[in-house]
Amino acid sequence: RIAGPCVLVIFGVTGDLSRKKLMPAVYDLANRGLLPPGFALVGFARRDWANEDFAQIVHDSVKEHARTPFREEVWQQLLEGIRFVPGDLNSDASFEELKNTILELDEARGTGGNHAFYLSIPPGLFDEVVGQLRRHGLAEQRGGQWSRVVIEKPFGHDLESAQELNRIVSSVFPSQSVFRIDHYLGKETVQNMLALRFANQLFEPVWNRNYIDHVQITMAEDIGIGGRAGYYDGIGAARDVIQNHLLQLLALTAMEEPTSFDARQLRSEKQKVLAAARPPVDLDAHTARGRYDGGWAGGVKVNGYAEEEGVSPESITETFAAIRVDIDNRRWAGVPFYLRTGKRLARRVTEVALSFRKAPHLPFTNSDTEALGTNALVMRIQPDEGITLRFGAKVPGTQMEIREVNMDFAYGGAFTESSPEAYERLILDVLLGDPPLFPQHEEVELSWKILDPVLDHWAETATKPEKYHPGSWGPQSAHDMLARDGFTWRRP
Ligand code: BG6
Repeated sequence: RIAGPCVLVIFGVTGDLSRKKLMPAVYDLANRGLLPPGFALVGFARRDWANEDFAQIVHDSVKEHARTPFREEVWQQLLEGIRFVPGDLNSDASFEELKNTILELDEARGTGGNHAFYLSIPPGLFDEVVGQLRRHGLAEQRGGQWSRVVIEKPFGHDLESAQELNRIVSSVFPSQSVFRIDHYLGKETVQNMLALRFANQLFEPVWNRNYIDHVQITMAEDIGIGGRAGYYDGIGAARDVIQNHLLQLLALTAMEEPTSFDARQLRSEKQKVLAAARPPVDLDAHTARGRYDGGWAGGVKVNGYAEEEGVSPESITETFAAIRVDIDNRRWAGVPFYLRTGKRLARRVTEVALSFRKAPHLPFTNSDTEALGTNALVMRIQPDEGITLRFGAKVPGTQMEIREVNMDFAYGGAFTESSPEAYERLILDVLLGDPPLFPQHEEVELSWKILDPVLDHWAETATKPEKYHPGSWGPQSAHDMLARDGFTWRRP
């Protein structure tokens, strides 16, 4: 799977995403031999840079963030195709210059007129950019050539704005040319969820309400919002993470087996399960939100959310969100899925944990029988990638004492191959035109339909979210939410 010659244009090339993820991913792909010699990279931004200045920025970001070792010959080849176009998104002259640069590269690199446009910019600017691309003939799909657009979340602020955004993008690009990035789908461990479920006979027979008692999906971060208040304040944890990453993890955990792994089948199964998923009936009892307070975390004194630079004093943005989701279908009826995410929590960890029902009868007399028989299967998405199966085993000795033990699969121990970064995989798929890992608009809409009632409910109460200590596992209300259902959150 090697991409063909093409031009990748990145809008918003001065942003963090571009510097930390996109440019290094392009280099890593080149280094792994997955980009052809005819590949070209164009940066577009409002900066007074020459090609050499931009190349230096790419070089520095590669040196700092690339996964693979720096090789001068790979860099030199990439360098030949690097260009920069200084300009404004609303300037016709700038897009004319962009077009000329692209045409020059088409000629010099033999790209066959194939172009991808990566909009690493706020969604409020999509309208302007796709309009410019259309007006300058850069969105046309002629003959065998392709023109693709890549968009990053947030795909809207709620259902209505997501629909509007989609209307804007699809008025210029046909749906097969729109690639929506949810970088969680680019992670090896997330793709492995499908392998675990559908390449084995072992798990699927118990993957349902007869055996599973509840599911916990956690995406915890130990960092705060850093310098991202401009993006984060007003968005918050639920929109930033639950609407996309966590509902995608839920879909992969709960969906039926697709008849094949082509994009249409896979998306259709994800859509079906998202359509069956619903927000909590009791929005007070089964949602929780919080925001991190200042204090000591990991031996360092950290700011509370309200003190972070750029956060508005009136802000009611949450940095922790938890919701219960129920799935109304035969496989999952009555099995709650609990989703939680937060910043400045005890540790960085993402996992999907299926907790099994208790064994119906335990013929043992040891004191600890309460906890026994609640087996769990944990898909460890990151950082300690692998899978854990938890079950009870006899403690060596003369007594029949049972204790919980773990059976572990760890990527590091099982494979010598290294995992590509999520963005590497996704950028390659864009250039190949391979769509399975990109959510379609329907999935985005369905996710907002699950989340909108929760967000509306929180907006109506209009209070500041409950504080939680940095380095903890979130606000008390999140613990109460599970306790009400007779469960406790895992402490991964
Ligand atoms: C992004 C969110 O989508 O995912 C960030 O906007 C978050 O707030 C990030 O920090 C986490 O990604 P990862 O891959 O480090 O889990």
